Amino acid sequence: MGIQIAPSILSADFANLEAEIGRIHNADLIHVDVMDNHFVPNLTLGLPVVDAILRRTSLPVDCHLMIDDPDRWAPAYAEAGAHSVTFHAEAAKAPVRLAREIRHQGARTGVGLKPATPVEPFEDLLGEIDMLLIMTVEPGFGGQAFLDMCLPKIRRTREMVSRSGLDVWIQVDGGVSKETIERCADAGADVFVAGSAVYGADDAATAVDQLRHLAAAAQQ
Ligand code: DX5
Ligand code: ZN
Repeated sequence: MGIQIAPSILSADFANLEAEIGRIHNADLIHVDVMDNHFVPNLTLGLPVVDAILRRTSLPVDCHLMIDDPDRWAPAYAEAGAHSVTFHAEAAKAPVRLAREIRHQGARTGVGLKPATPVEPFEDLLGEIDMLLIMTVEPGFGGQAFLDMCLPKIRRTREMVSRSGLDVWIQVDGGVSKETIERCADAGADVFVAGSAVYGADDAATAVDQLRHLAAAAQQ
């Protein structure tokens, strides 16, 4: 799989979601941030809204669950038809069982890591997952500044995945923009979440294309 751009609707107008999704028709994935006000200090949306989004788009929906107790809540997002469901390593009690349940429901499964969570403990789990999400801000809010301290972890993740020979995608999320995406691609990321950089642009679709172009050039 090559470069994929996943605009985050966290920075979209929540009162006009259908139109806002239409602005990113050229995206590879739609990134939907589910926050429960416990795992992160912010509250966004849950399964009913994800259901509604799934009914209004043919683009794959990538759910990023920033919630406590994903073991209980995450499989329902897969069952609803999400293309991928990412839960956080810091919140999951039984990540292997949960990853298997999500796959069993027919979705790809991702594990998210906050900036201070090391990736190395997940090396043996690579066969159980489809994506590692390396957060490049502390999760909870859009529009934060990219944390360069996460770049070595992206690099180590790429090395780990290459060693494994498995096709595990490496997603970056937080502060990804025209200014920072090349650094992420160069370090080895291949799926790029961008909220404010896409929805803050006058022409969101053009912003998606520009980000894809910059990432592709930096990856070589
Ligand atoms: C933050 C979310 C992100 C957020 C990114 O916790 O997980 O997906 O929307 O927003 P930007 O791209 O503005 O940092
Ligand atoms: Zn996210």
